Amino acid sequence: MRLAALVGGLFLAVASPSGFPAAAADSLEQAVYRGRVLFMTATFGGGGRHCTTCHKEGGTAMSELPDGRKFASLSNAAAIFPRYDAKTRRVKTLPDQVQACVRNALQGTAPAFESPEMTELVSYITSLSEGKPIEMDGKPR
Ligand code: HEC
Repeated sequence: MRLAALVGGLFLAVASPSGFPAAAADSLEQAVYRGRVLFMTATFGGGGRHCTTCHKEGGTAMSELPDGRKFASLSNAAAIFPRYDAKTRRVKTLPDQVQACVRNALQGTAPAFESPEMTELVSYITSLSEGKPIEMDGKPR
């Protein structure tokens, strides 16, 4: 057990991009950390894009499509879900949106709702909205 934790910590430390804390202290921090790594690097078997290809600087800066069109950052994204999607006539949750972006934007295989990858991405995206008022169906900022 101890050895596994040590090896896991070493892995996180080695995989840590500079300026970012290595092995996190508790499991929520670790989920947020892993979510950020996925956000910055994972292609989910798609064409080579990752989340930050469009959602710049880990989602904290203005987003930009490959054709240069700009749109809102993810800085309050977790605070405005669930929201009503008139196109599909469904109420959409944050995990629904993550799956949609993996399928459509990354052309990848979306992580299942109950997968560790989904938990980690949702934890990371929610961390960006920390302290923002909940505003279901509100505007992305
Ligand atoms: C090719 C560009 C592109 C990539 C890459 C991309 N997205 Fe998106 N994302 C969008 C666009 C465009 C929207 C807003 C329109 C929409 O509803 O699809 C959006 C919206 C979102 C939103 C909702 C933001 C809001 O406030 O409305 C979340 C959350 C999100 N994306 C997460 C992700 C995650 C996680 C990934 C990586 C798995 C990802 N995106 C990859 C283009 C992209």
